[in-house]
Amino acid sequence: MTQKPDTPAEPTIVNSWNEWDPLRHVIVGRADDCHIPPEEPALDAKVPENSDMRGQWGRRPQEMIDRGNELLDNFADMLVKRGVRVDRPDSIDHSLPATTPDFHTESQFGCMPPRDVLLTVGSEMLEATMSYRCRWFEYLNYRPLMQRYFNEDPNFRHESAPKPRLTDADYHPDYLSDKIGVEKRLQWAEEKFFVTTEEEPLFDAADVLRFGRDLVVQHGFTTNLKGIEWLRRHFPDHRVHTVNFPGDPYPIHIDATFTPLRPGLILNNPQRRLPEEQRKMYNDNGWEIVDAAQPAHNAPPPLCYSSTWLSMNVLVLDPKTVCVEKSEVYQAEQMDKLGMNVVEVELRDAYAFGGGLHCCTADVYREGDCEDYFP
Ligand code: NVA
Repeated sequence: MTQKPDTPAEPTIVNSWNEWDPLRHVIVGRADDCHIPPEEPALDAKVPENSDMRGQWGRRPQEMIDRGNELLDNFADMLVKRGVRVDRPDSIDHSLPATTPDFHTESQFGCMPPRDVLLTVGSEMLEATMSYRCRWFEYLNYRPLMQRYFNEDPNFRHESAPKPRLTDADYHPDYLSDKIGVEKRLQWAEEKFFVTTEEEPLFDAADVLRFGRDLVVQHGFTTNLKGIEWLRRHFPDHRVHTVNFPGDPYPIHIDATFTPLRPGLILNNPQRRLPEEQRKMYNDNGWEIVDAAQPAHNAPPPLCYSSTWLSMNVLVLDPKTVCVEKSEVYQAEQMDKLGMNVVEVELRDAYAFGGGLHCCTADVYREGDCEDYFP
């Protein structure tokens, strides 16, 4: 059902300025050949201390890959039926080591989730630097699509942020222990002391939320201040805001923490509240920040990096319609109360590949232009 890259129905136009305008064209990731990578500094800091993933690595079990792909394919087919064009990446061989003059790691990660790698801002798709060694080559999964968009859309800007060196100087050695404890982690997060140093610009695309003229970027494990400064210089017509969520002991990727649903309304993870001093632009412009509903699960599924807060990792199809994971009944109920129409999507068995409904997609085209929501 999904669009094959070599049979475009119509030329691609790349355009997306925010997280909520009507979605017309999207990339959905694949679980193909996904690996649990071997230990490395940034990844170790992110794997929760009680996780079933500590100490093991290698190709994920085939039955889990098949199940993940089944759910991702169903999600893609549902989007196509709703009139959204869907493209899929071409998996590279993730069993291959990633080696550069600066580092070596025995395997890579996967072609999930695209939201981590690709940041769409207007007619530009920007490949993030990434901050894990095992994800250094991940952009290659999307290069066939980028080439196609380049051929079809004369205004498409294909950009790639400077590839980082990812030497040991990029990581604080204090984090290289599996016995830090949550209290210490919370204290460090409060102090804005994260696993990544300020050696060079680092960012993952999933630390960025797009609000038209404003880009909101989480400073944490996967994005450092230099990465945010790089984004500021790269997007001179935007205002770039740095945000922190001190209640998160593993601050990576903003999209299970802060979820804009439509102009004027954002869900915030009640365990990771945006500090008062960072709320001014929303308060001044009449935006409401509401606590997200509790997740329906007490624990993530097996071999999953993410927390149960993938409940709020939703994909907004338009300002009145949102895709919510099927088992997340409390989140769906809250959406309903907030006046959103809910599209239920079964995805929980694919969470292990890197995230939920927002994570596993990357925008190509949403209607609408660059608006100033915070004048
Ligand atoms: N750090 C997040 C993942 C975001 C998709 C979490 O696990 O809650």
